[in-house]
Amino acid sequence: MTEPRKLFIKTYGCQMNVYDSERMAEAMGGEGYVLTDQAEGADMVLLNTCHIREKASEKLYSDLGRLRPLKAANPNLKIGVAGCVAQAEGDEILRRMPLVDLVVGPQAYHRLPEMAWAGRQQVDTEFPVEDKFDLLPARKAPRGPTAFLTVQEGCDKFCAFCVVPYTRGAEVSRPGARILDEAAKLVERGVREITLLGQNVNAYHGAGEGGDWTLARLIRALAAIPGLERLRYTTSHPNDMEDDLIAAHGDLPALMPYLHLPVQSGSDRILKAMNRKHTAEQYLRLVERIRAARPDILLSSDFIVGFPGETDRDFEDTMELIRAVGFGSAFSFKYSARPGTPAAEKPPVEEALADDRLQTLQALITAQQRAAQEAMVGREVGVLYEKPGRLAGQMVGKSDHLHAVHVEDPQGRVGELVRVRVSASASNSLAAVRIP
Ligand code: 5AD
Ligand code: SF4
Repeated sequence: MTEPRKLFIKTYGCQMNVYDSERMAEAMGGEGYVLTDQAEGADMVLLNTCHIREKASEKLYSDLGRLRPLKAANPNLKIGVAGCVAQAEGDEILRRMPLVDLVVGPQAYHRLPEMAWAGRQQVDTEFPVEDKFDLLPARKAPRGPTAFLTVQEGCDKFCAFCVVPYTRGAEVSRPGARILDEAAKLVERGVREITLLGQNVNAYHGAGEGGDWTLARLIRALAAIPGLERLRYTTSHPNDMEDDLIAAHGDLPALMPYLHLPVQSGSDRILKAMNRKHTAEQYLRLVERIRAARPDILLSSDFIVGFPGETDRDFEDTMELIRAVGFGSAFSFKYSARPGTPAAEKPPVEEALADDRLQTLQALITAQQRAAQEAMVGREVGVLYEKPGRLAGQMVGKSDHLHAVHVEDPQGRVGELVRVRVSASASNSLAAVRIP
């Protein structure tokens, strides 16, 4: 019997890349490759990259440098670069790093198996007319209780700082029936919670029965699948938060009370320069409407500090918006100029000032995150067990509000959805006791 070939995939960046890596692993599985958790000894190494900030991009080149000795020791080792850096830089990657065998963009990775067999220096960064998801092998193997499912890709918003519209292309939504089918198959394989993914997921408008479906319509159809207990979606744009989606948060028990809704800045001047097409006030009103539908919802956001032209006053407006909303968590980034985007033409804010602002903002977010966790103590919540904890007799899972929870439960099994009472809040997780 021949040994299976070993595939190592490193995933950088967003959840959509996590989903794509899984699909690439399944595609290569059809070619006899099994996943391994280290690059040493692998027959193929795939780096699924992110281009969103400069640091994320640069990681690719340092990691490729580290693969040199492996390639020298095993000239048959195939090295592939996938994802958004592959899309943005294409051939340039081969020129800069000749050890790379193939470069495949996020819209072309269904071709990975044939490219892997076709010899060295293959590049495909096309945006095909067909849906790559239809060309990928069906998802079969059993798996854990949670899964990502990409329903929409690309972005038409063109925020002035962002490369996504260039690397992932225009907005495309998958047809509703295909998504329902994939979800039902995931449930057959043991999945009980699905997170719907899209760069602009709430702009979803896939073909469905009776015309295009909205995300709310899709979520209602998914919630009817027996055994699918929990639904989440990410990432949303404030301007696409329609009434039917807000209503779904109020009346669909499967739709979890957590929403990632990036605002980026609290200054109207900066929001305008960012081409966000909403004001701080509009965001606050939107938050009110969402909370009216689902009062206990936890909100999270993305923030960029040090966008070109950001003054102390603009930054203070952002801090004010954060105080006004009270987030459950948030991601914050120092602005990073991305080649080809409109904001990259403008003079940057002084680095030390941006660093200071980032620290100040992160301290406020951390305090709000702590407060949101503390507020859970004593409350009853649902937890879906994802794995055994490090301590004997302990299970770990996510609460409805997406907090990591450690539960004392010697009889607990992975995949069980239980009710717990939160007993304590630690720095990044909650402790809880199962309710019999
Ligand atoms: N610089 C810093 N942060 C950025 N993001 C996107 N582009 C940039 C950039 N050029 C952040 C935004 C976005 C998140 C995914 O990454 O906050 O919501
Ligand atoms: Fe980038 Fe803006 Fe599109 Fe989000 S909405 S992917 S930040 S351009």
